Amino acid sequence: YKDPLVLGIESSCDETGVGIVRGTTLLTNTVSSSMDEHVRFGGVIPEIASRAHLDAFVPTLQESLHEAGVTLDEIDAIAVTSGPGLAGALMVGVCAAKALAVATGKPLYAINHLVAHVGVGLLDRNPDGGTAAGGAAGLGEGGRLPDNLGALLVSGGHTEILRIRSITDDVELLGSTIDDAAGEAYDKVARILELGYPGGPAIDKLARQGNAKSIRFPRGLSQPKYMGTAEEPGPHRYDWSFSGLKTAVARCVEQFEARGEEVPVADIAAAFQEAVVDVISAKAVLACKENGITDVLLGGGVAANSRLRELTGQRCTSAGIRLHVPPLELCTDNGAMVAALGAQLIMAGIGPSGVAFAPDSSMP
Ligand code: KG4
Ligand code: ZN
Repeated sequence: YKDPLVLGIESSCDETGVGIVRGTTLLTNTVSSSMDEHVRFGGVIPEIASRAHLDAFVPTLQESLHEAGVTLDEIDAIAVTSGPGLAGALMVGVCAAKALAVATGKPLYAINHLVAHVGVGLLDRNPDGGTAAGGAAGLGEGGRLPDNLGALLVSGGHTEILRIRSITDDVELLGSTIDDAAGEAYDKVARILELGYPGGPAIDKLARQGNAKSIRFPRGLSQPKYMGTAEEPGPHRYDWSFSGLKTAVARCVEQFEARGEEVPVADIAAAFQEAVVDVISAKAVLACKENGITDVLLGGGVAANSRLRELTGQRCTSAGIRLHVPPLELCTDNGAMVAALGAQLIMAGIGPSGVAFAPDSSMP
């Protein structure tokens, strides 16, 4: 089934996203966020997010169809995030998708949000790094994945390095965080530094004005007893831990305050970011090298981080690994990634999900 026209719907958190792809070509990516309504609470409030999805869904759908210049009638299939995420928020997108599928008679695909975060890397790319119609052939052309494919997933809830043999079922976990996810660490440290919510973009921006070398924060699970050697791997060779780093940042702030000194917030942000990015990229590249992975899809909200993109890119290049980095707007939650994965499933000959599935907020 070549180049299916797929409409993707995303509503797992605070972003209402509708995207449209044709095979591996991106047509539109329309996103409406309710983040402004959550900022004063310091976190996403599920009830507010669900209500915002209800308000935003139809306008977002209409705008996406309009921009792509297609009608609902012309769509070949509908794909929707069915988990993981906030239960009430997921329910809005899933109900909308089911209603559309029933009304139009189109096949419906239930999509794992996390797989979509890395699957978005299979869309066609322009030479300038953008993703748009007319770009170079996608990695996942015709639903066939390259051999030796890996994925580095860095989001608010996950930090994982994976080997991907098939986007549907054959995914092997090589390493993951044993406590906080990278995005969670950013958000918690931003709270300590009083930078507001969400923390990732704030730290990313402030870190540019700081000196990353002024303070050395710990790189979790990097000691020889955890790493071992290639021949005799330690218990956490490819795993991460960020909770100790968060504690180290809190202690550092306390020490400045105890001495009555001004807290060098930009320096701390830069040093924290360097510690996170250094250990994520070092362990991801090591896992790829030792497992014969030659192509890596970078995905998840933290993939928007400028320093992570830079350092992981440099280290992959040195190691002879091709790193596939999505454009910024496809790193944070969106409907295009859901459509992109739906198209991959169709091109791989996989049948639809039907309309009887339920959203699963804790989907693995
Ligand atoms: O993937 P995502 O949108 O939601 C989940 O599926 O979890 O990721 C959200 C996370 C948040 O923790 C946010 O702080 C982080 O991604 N994030 C960033 C940046 N932009 C978003 N972290 C570091 N640097 C950024 N530029
Ligand atoms: Zn996400």
